[in-house]
Amino acid sequence: MSAPNLRLGVNVDHVATLRNARGGFYPDPCRAAHEAIMAGADSITAHLREDRRHIRDEDVERLKRQILTPLNFEMAATAEMVAIATRIRPHAACLVPEKREERTTEGGLDVIGGAETLRPVIEELRDAGIRVSLFVEPEPAVLDIAFALGAPVVELHTGAYAEASFAGDTERLAREAARLYRAAEHGAALGLEIHAGHGLTEENVALVAAIPQVAELNIGHSLIATAIFVGLPEAVRAMRDEMERGRSRIGG
Ligand code: PXP
Repeated sequence: MSAPNLRLGVNVDHVATLRNARGGFYPDPCRAAHEAIMAGADSITAHLREDRRHIRDEDVERLKRQILTPLNFEMAATAEMVAIATRIRPHAACLVPEKREERTTEGGLDVIGGAETLRPVIEELRDAGIRVSLFVEPEPAVLDIAFALGAPVVELHTGAYAEASFAGDTERLAREAARLYRAAEHGAALGLEIHAGHGLTEENVALVAAIPQVAELNIGHSLIATAIFVGLPEAVRAMRDEMERGRSRIGG
């Protein structure tokens, strides 16, 4: 089979994390979205969490208004989030589990226990013209249920694979990569579009990118982390220049 183009969705949540650390207006996640698009991002992802710890309601509104590139709205399957999504109408919505106390999305959706909640949410979003994906563990049985629930897309949780890569555990890495391969193959055979994400970095992305059925990767934290080091020298130089400019006024 020939592999589809592999799209990159850039998650701008952690630009908002940095902004919120000071409670001010910068760095602006919308500006980050523009920069990401200029650099080749195919879509922009933002997760409006229940506690609004990073992205805020007005960020989602501005992203939808200001960017022409598809917006992937990550959300919990709650009435509040469904109301926001159906009002803003992003291109896509990715349903994720959400616990207040977690630092990031820690596991895939419970598609069995949560089926009765998920089914009407998927329907409502679909009826609003939003492409729905379910963030799930890379297990064939889970994909069967995702498919039965009527979702056209699944995003495979790459967290366990990423953990293995961070730990330098090559055996576990091979096992987790194989799990992703199997799940992608199974999901695509059902007719699901396959996305993947969570914990992907420049060091571990290649194996996931090599899974032929994967059509899209959603990546956030490592991109923003790398951007610090790629951008810091330029930022320091620009600051130095401005300091010199100010200084040169003395006695001038
Ligand atoms: N995909 C989903 C569904 C997520 O919840 C997240 C984390 O917000 C990501 C992808 C991106 O993960 P990371 O920030 O680790 O790249």
